[in-house]
Amino acid sequence: MEPTTMILFGATGDLAKRKIYPALFNLFLGGKLPRGFSVFGLGRREWSDDVFRSNVEQAVRQFSRRKPMDPDRGLADFLGLFRYNVLEIDRESDYRELLSVVERREAAQSLPPNRLFYLSVGPEHFETIALNIQSSGLGSANGWKRLVIEKPFGHDLQSARELNRVLNHAFAEEEIYRIDHYLGKPVVQQLKALQQANPVLQALWSHRYIANVQISAGEADGVGLRAGYYDHIGALRDMFQNHLLQLLMTAAIQLSQDSGPEEVRWKKRNVMEAVDLLQKEDVRARVVRGQYAAGRVDGQDVVGYTREPGIAPDSRTETFVAARLHIDNNAWRGVPFYLRTGKRMKEKSTRIVVEFKEPLRPKSVGGVAPNLLIIEIGPNEGISLQFNATEHGPNGGFKPVRIELHRNPEDSPESYENLIGDALEGDATYFAHWDEIELSWRWVQPVLDAFEEELVPLHYYEAGTYGPDASDALLAEDGNSWWLDD
Ligand code: BG6
Repeated sequence: MEPTTMILFGATGDLAKRKIYPALFNLFLGGKLPRGFSVFGLGRREWSDDVFRSNVEQAVRQFSRRKPMDPDRGLADFLGLFRYNVLEIDRESDYRELLSVVERREAAQSLPPNRLFYLSVGPEHFETIALNIQSSGLGSANGWKRLVIEKPFGHDLQSARELNRVLNHAFAEEEIYRIDHYLGKPVVQQLKALQQANPVLQALWSHRYIANVQISAGEADGVGLRAGYYDHIGALRDMFQNHLLQLLMTAAIQLSQDSGPEEVRWKKRNVMEAVDLLQKEDVRARVVRGQYAAGRVDGQDVVGYTREPGIAPDSRTETFVAARLHIDNNAWRGVPFYLRTGKRMKEKSTRIVVEFKEPLRPKSVGGVAPNLLIIEIGPNEGISLQFNATEHGPNGGFKPVRIELHRNPEDSPESYENLIGDALEGDATYFAHWDEIELSWRWVQPVLDAFEEELVPLHYYEAGTYGPDASDALLAEDGNSWWLDD
């Protein structure tokens, strides 16, 4: 890994505290930071380096999965990597000053000017920052430069395009690393290897053997303290356009033994391009919109969405979306992909269930369950395969059994650890390419329009369930049902 200077906008913010510093600390403990690494934290607050470092320390103590040891020798070395600079986002002279500080440090340590810009700030600041990075000279050194940004990438198709245009003033596509934290989840990162290392799965990975694929991301939590944000966004933008469609693309690619980062992203893009687009008039037949009503979650009574603090009593924002998608290519023609996400559902669980077709089993055998591949992404992590085995006993018969491969999530790196590590390496496999984002918005846009124009009913569902009945009915139309809802 090449020496790198990380320039972090939003260094005093919540994301940095909860995710970025703990991730850097765990990379440090694992020996996965480059030699010659330093971080320049930027913010408006008048902090000294020492105040900054003590904030980083606090964040690491509170949020890191691996706690600092006693005595904290490693921690002191880690904190020594951090420096702080006051910066007003729209003041170009601050960027020029920053450039001279960064250059001085690079020169003192004989480091090449490789710079990773991390924008942990709202998207409304992206344009100003990108333009100032460019005009101050910060982004035009002899080394490489990379830009890491967080969602949301736009509010709709139009604004996403605009945002991308702005970023392209200062950064080329191959320099932009767009974080979708679902792509950093350890099990998602294993999917590629799972296919590549298992010819048996590679061989089965198409419409020939797969009946349907179910991608489900449920949360037991409600909107919590994020009413101001969520009520303008809803589940379609918050989870579906990004995380769920990314899981769809990741699950539907067919990889060869040596598919590298470019090929993976190219294939994901092709999958998304092949997903058939809806006209807004057809959305109703393929997409279910829901909002949680009062109910019980984990043994507690909870209020309905519109009674949550900060939510308008007549809000029609969706907290649940389920949809049936078709990928119109040779691999997947005829296989429904069912996607679902919701807040205040029965349990927190993100999983992909692949249901295999019947012809795989001997014709003589009737009435047995299909084979399932169950990929548990979080909070449980694991992969299991459901088989049918003979049951001992007087009547014989079959019963489904599962071969399970479980991981202990405590041993797993956090998403941000994987992703920041990859960005430092320059490995873009698990970052969303612009084409994927644009194509995702292109699919979502008519759905947004149909919701906005009230062309799709809003179904209320009791908190603590698996969503509205209409979501079950969507699968029942094809003779299917959601696996593992019980
Ligand atoms: C975020 C959404 O992107 O993902 C949140 O904004 C959601 O609303 C969260 O709760 C879920 O992430 P995870 O990793 O807990 O499944």
